[in-house]
Amino acid sequence: MTLTVRRATSSDLPAILALLERAEMYTTSVTLAGDVTYLLGEVEGRPAAVLGLEYGEGAGLLRSFTVHPDDRGRGWSGRMLAEAYALLRARGCREVFLFSADEGAFWAHQGYQPVPPQELARRLPQAPQVQHALATGWLTGALAWHAPLPQ
Ligand SMILES: CC(C)(COP(=O)(O)OP(=O)(O)OC[C@H]1O[C@@H](n2cnc3c(N)ncnc32)[C@H](O)[C@@H]1OP(=O)(O)O)[C@@H](O)C(=O)NCCC(=O)NCCS
Repeated sequence: MTLTVRRATSSDLPAILALLERAEMYTTSVTLAGDVTYLLGEVEGRPAAVLGLEYGEGAGLLRSFTVHPDDRGRGWSGRMLAEAYALLRARGCREVFLFSADEGAFWAHQGYQPVPPQELARRLPQAPQVQHALATGWLTGALAWHAPLPQ
């Protein structure tokens, strides 16, 4: 089986929300409007993975990342991340941040280090997920991670 990765369009929003809901992930601030990119991974035309990107000055934010439970363990998270990193490099980013809902073992394995959530918010003030975190008050208790953008 081959994973095909492409930029999602607004008509992919239901498929993206279904993938996130299947993984019991938050969907409330997911939007394809504005300066955001969602990558959709498909297997034989079936949605199998999603990864969102938001942007700051020299820094990118990864969000809404999941591989469908039936498709995990095949290395496809690395494919999705490689595509995201290439997009971030093309925009001149040198750093990457994200929030994680759990303790972040996956991200530590990927070379990320924990950072205060306020540091993430300071670097990506216009990112929709940051604005949502500030508006709804969950920033303070959030877990945030940072890595230099892999070259
Ligand atoms: C996190 C997630 C995207 C990983 O996808 P996956 O298909 O299972 O991962 P892969 O098979 O591509 O594994 C890539 C590497 O990460 C490692 N890995 C996978 N899950 C891990 C975890 N929970 N903790 C630590 N390492 C993990 C794998 O061992 C592999 O390591 P290697 O490259 O050294 O061999 C998937 O488990 C998922 O969708 N989880 C639910 C949603 C979630 O937690 N999203 C991320 C937080 S926002």
